[in-house]
Amino acid sequence: MPSVVEKKTSDQIAELKAALKALNQEYSKMKDLPAEERGDFGRKLNEKKQKIMAEIAAAEEAALEQDVKPLDITAPCAINGELPKFLTADEGSQHPLMTELDRVMAIYQSMGFDVVESQQLDDEYHMFDSLNFAKAHPARDNFDTFRTEEGYIPPAHTSTMQNRILKAYKHKLAEGEAIAVAVPGRVYRNEDLDATHEHTFYQCEGVYVSKTCTLGNMLGILREFFEKYYGQKLNIRTQPGFFPFTEPSLEFMIEKPEALAGKKGEFLEMLGCGMIHPNVLKEAGIDPEEYHGFAWGGGIDRLVMLKRKLSDVRYFESAKLDFLKEFAC
Ligand code: DAH
Repeated sequence: MPSVVEKKTSDQIAELKAALKALNQEYSKMKDLPAEERGDFGRKLNEKKQKIMAEIAAAEEAALEQDVKPLDITAPCAINGELPKFLTADEGSQHPLMTELDRVMAIYQSMGFDVVESQQLDDEYHMFDSLNFAKAHPARDNFDTFRTEEGYIPPAHTSTMQNRILKAYKHKLAEGEAIAVAVPGRVYRNEDLDATHEHTFYQCEGVYVSKTCTLGNMLGILREFFEKYYGQKLNIRTQPGFFPFTEPSLEFMIEKPEALAGKKGEFLEMLGCGMIHPNVLKEAGIDPEEYHGFAWGGGIDRLVMLKRKLSDVRYFESAKLDFLKEFAC
């Protein structure tokens, strides 16, 4: 049963307000009454007035509550100098990058990979030492790393998770199985911003270790991944690269699909990859004489930009509602 208060509609509020107005006019009659009756008359009017005012306040509050929708506190506000406007939850949508990240993970999972998210704050050991970066080696500078005053590192790549994954999953090797894990995560780099460089972006790392795996297996997995993601056959190409944590190291490229405004022969670098360096396996307590591994890591933003024909990576972090609405799906 709705309470009396809940039944108050805006019409009823208007009626109460009209009654209050009429009541206020009654006060003018007071001056025509004999003096001894005025007190009693005034008191009764005041009581009625209090009652109506309380009813109006309760009705207005109830009407407001019926109107309130949950607020999306993650919604952007104050865009281009406009006054803050909060969106209600049903006006929002999942960020396009998150939608695509779900698709990426679904593909890896369909290929038998576990998914482990990377950390948002990491340390020197996982960023460099455990990945076979020699102390004071110039390769440490290639990663434009941010540091907090306390010396923590917002990770500059998802490879920071390799040592943790290898340690957490090495029991699988003892059980005769392979390690196969995909690691999505947000990464940060202190670099100059332009249409293809952003300080905050997403990467996905892949880590695979077994007794018998080869570089050929890795290229097969990567081809399969990209062809599933773009929904078509692709030409792939690799060229030598350098990463302290892989040997050999490769840069993996795909030919831009014509359907995505690509020209024949136009190759795009999608990720870095290679056979996991024996020192990285050793550091995690895995015997490189007995086991081999390969790993790769690449930007999710770039993957999505190609798929959705976007020309500026900065849109993703821009909080531009027009963009978010157009690319939501
Ligand atoms: N972490 C590298 C980067 O951000 C990419 C990478 C290269 C990851 C080789 C790997 C790898 O796992 O084996 O540039």
